[in-house]
Amino acid sequence: MPAHHGLEFRPAVDGDWREIFASTARAFGITAPLDEHQQANERARIADEDTMIARDPALPGAPLVGMAMYYRLQMSVPGGSIGFPGLTWVSVSPTHRRRGILRELLTRLRAKWADEGHAVAALWASEGTIYERFGFGPAVFAESVRIDGPQTLRVPAPAQSPVRFVDAAELAVLAPPLYERWGRVHPGVMARDALWWQAELDDRPSSRLPTLSERHTIVHPDGYATYRLDSADGGELPVARIEEVVAVTPEAHTELWRVLAALDLVASTTGTLDVGDPLPFKLTDLRGVSVTRRRDTLWVAVLDVPAALAARTDAADLDAVLVVDDPSGGEGGRFRLHIVDGTADVARDETAAGTNGEISCDIAALGSLYLGGVDARDLAAAGRVRASSPELLRAFALSWQAQNHPATGTDF
Ligand SMILES: CC(C)(COP(=O)(O)OP(=O)(O)OC[C@H]1O[C@@H](n2cnc3c(N)ncnc32)[C@H](O)[C@@H]1OP(=O)(O)O)[C@@H](O)C(=O)NCCC(=O)NCCS
Repeated sequence: MPAHHGLEFRPAVDGDWREIFASTARAFGITAPLDEHQQANERARIADEDTMIARDPALPGAPLVGMAMYYRLQMSVPGGSIGFPGLTWVSVSPTHRRRGILRELLTRLRAKWADEGHAVAALWASEGTIYERFGFGPAVFAESVRIDGPQTLRVPAPAQSPVRFVDAAELAVLAPPLYERWGRVHPGVMARDALWWQAELDDRPSSRLPTLSERHTIVHPDGYATYRLDSADGGELPVARIEEVVAVTPEAHTELWRVLAALDLVASTTGTLDVGDPLPFKLTDLRGVSVTRRRDTLWVAVLDVPAALAARTDAADLDAVLVVDDPSGGEGGRFRLHIVDGTADVARDETAAGTNGEISCDIAALGSLYLGGVDARDLAAAGRVRASSPELLRAFALSWQAQNHPATGTDF
């Protein structure tokens, strides 16, 4: 009998949400709980039927002891985009940990995703060791960076720069179409509807730490960037914390960073660069950008191999057998993989013989490769991908590579 036996598992209803918000604040160390306005926004973005909670009827009041839920999202992939469940708000009470509650919650949600026919799922992980067992692999990586002193760009400044500051009202008008264009350039970018923009742009003093300034925004015809000044360090000068840089063109990237990398009267400037961002190569001093941390951002699970592979465009032709090992569920097996002119034709065929060669990997590795930002050769070097010849490995790696590096679009 599983250790979670006797617990009640079901989707949330109206009366569960007060506890859901309180438990989430406790689990994630949120010191300023969501106010009514933010709670209403969350409720509007997650349907009750897309949640799964656990209660313990053996205890007084049958407290909430676990939850998991998902947003219905759309994400750019190489050459296209795909709808997917974005797993979020996952927590189990410290009083009930390691009894299999997370596993049971995810088993139930995955059964629902299978019924709904989703090809992939994605999440942001709180820790690196939890989600591989459920088929997720890290697919996008970013670096936290610090920029010291005003930095100079190699490309001389234009006589007249189009970059200017705008207020919150103008940002709300300009940002959505720029962000949408940006998602067509980079894989991994989550589309934001009006409710998501409301949550992103929300900038009431009550919803941010007291040491943070209001949001400052610069725009360019092909991009925008936002930052805040943070006085938390107590030093004479604040730290500039860049929140988002959305640059649709290389020119916009250069001109936005020309401003951001040279802010005066700040102790330093911090931000996040997606792995592959060319900023260091644009500076006259490459060391002007120090990486303080490398981290995984988006994790992807392939739920339906043929459908997932058909949704993306590939960069080179390939003809091989793909063998996927799926210890987490039923998606593994042998697949014929024909890629012609960017389109993958994938069919399950347990008898397929690899006359043109065979590539094998585990399902989480396939998730890591999915957005084209992780090189199959690196995973092969780590023993996570195997190919019947070095030539086939190279061809596989090239066919999956994205034109542009995946971007960390929206944290969920
Ligand atoms: C992470 C958390 C949800 C796990 O819940 P749980 O009910 O204790 O997990 P389960 O008992 O179902 O464990 C399922 C499996 O995951 C493993 N696991 C669970 N938490 C883990 C962790 N933090 N690190 C590594 N492995 C973990 C278990 O060992 C178990 O492995 P197995 O089934 O392969 O033997 C819970 O500890 C928690 O709420 N933590 C704080 C919030 C958080 O980090 N949430 C995740 C947000 S992305």
